[in-house]
Amino acid sequence: MSILSGKKVLLGITGGIAAYKSAILVRSLIKAGASVKVVMTESAKDFVTPLTLSTLSKHPVLSSFTNEEDENDVWNNHVDLGLWADLMVIAPATANTLSKMANGVCDSLLLATYLSAKCPVYVAPAMDLDMYKHPTTTNSLKKLQEYGNTVIPAAHGELASGLVGEGRMAEPDAIVDFIEEHLKAAAPLYGKKVLITAGPTYEPIDPVRFIGNHSSGKMGFELACKAAALGAEVVLVSGPTHLEIQNPGIKLIRISTAREMYEEVHRHYPDTQITIMAAAVADYRPAQVAGQKIKKKTASMNIPLEPTDDILASLGSVKKEQYLVGFALETQNELENAREKLRRKNLNAIVLNSLMDEGAGFGKPTNKITFISKDGTEKSFPLKSKAEVAGDIFNEILLRFDAKEN
Ligand code: CTP
Repeated sequence: MSILSGKKVLLGITGGIAAYKSAILVRSLIKAGASVKVVMTESAKDFVTPLTLSTLSKHPVLSSFTNEEDENDVWNNHVDLGLWADLMVIAPATANTLSKMANGVCDSLLLATYLSAKCPVYVAPAMDLDMYKHPTTTNSLKKLQEYGNTVIPAAHGELASGLVGEGRMAEPDAIVDFIEEHLKAAAPLYGKKVLITAGPTYEPIDPVRFIGNHSSGKMGFELACKAAALGAEVVLVSGPTHLEIQNPGIKLIRISTAREMYEEVHRHYPDTQITIMAAAVADYRPAQVAGQKIKKKTASMNIPLEPTDDILASLGSVKKEQYLVGFALETQNELENAREKLRRKNLNAIVLNSLMDEGAGFGKPTNKITFISKDGTEKSFPLKSKAEVAGDIFNEILLRFDAKEN
């Protein structure tokens, strides 16, 4: 499956002879599994018709700020288009458009959309060889790269002028290959399945009461977002939290008890490559769950408890190729306890957070961790947002993941 599968691609077409190849580019992108919307400049319409492109893309093709044909939807909103896209590709990109993009000129829907787009932008220049070599074009491309855009280099060959040289737009399939390779390089976990747990578990006492804890689930949710951003297919098994997630790369499975978490985690574990247990799993549950609400009868009462399964230890005992990471929340002898858990549960790494550190632990937007690896590394990080902590944890995992000794 292509890394472009499921991606929303906004294709910008400008007025150059190579625009006729944009129709093939639309098809190649769709064949790779992307959905494609087209925005084109007025002059691009001299080279390829909007009808061809809308038929191939199965979306209306936009070129002006207003839409005279539909009185209920007169305004073509460049901001919405920019937000819709996972990536924008401008192919062909003429010298004129490249120069305007580099200088913030905004005299067409395509340019306004480019300026509004928050997604990665690729440009595929197409022009005659002398225009391509001209210092203004070179400067435009340099500036656009400095702004974070990616240039798909023009190819060498025969040009529309009859001259032979550099300046031909890269062929549509080469453009798709280039984008796929580029996306893969930025997504080191592409093709990998990552399992993450989050939140507390609730162990019922009776139909209205439970034993739980203060875990918000935020650390696990941030880890899931980071894993998805790195290209992984993510399964997030979460106990009860108020958090929501809308990310096509993340499959969220909500559970309530330690037993349910155990079952879901073991269902997915065999075909995952990385598993991180960030959940605060209850260690004990009531030995009997009352079928009816327990009535107040005596001055004191006891609830007999029994241990839950240690999910992480059970994963460690059946570990094959998985890179397995646990969390340790400690209040004393932190490093010692964490090292001992790493060994006892057969982990590749453990993330220690101490409740003694201000700003770390349950319910807080921040965390302060030490990453302890089986290879002996112990790296402490300063207090950071949980999103940043998730980034640090994955940086450490990626350093070791390929060379792991299980
Ligand atoms: N964990 C688990 N199943 C449990 C308890 C804990 O999978 N029944 C996991 C947690 O998700 C965490 C790690 O084990 O990744 C350590 O949890 P922690 O509560 O710090 O340690 P425990 O092993 O429960 O030991 P203790 O409570 O004695 O510190």
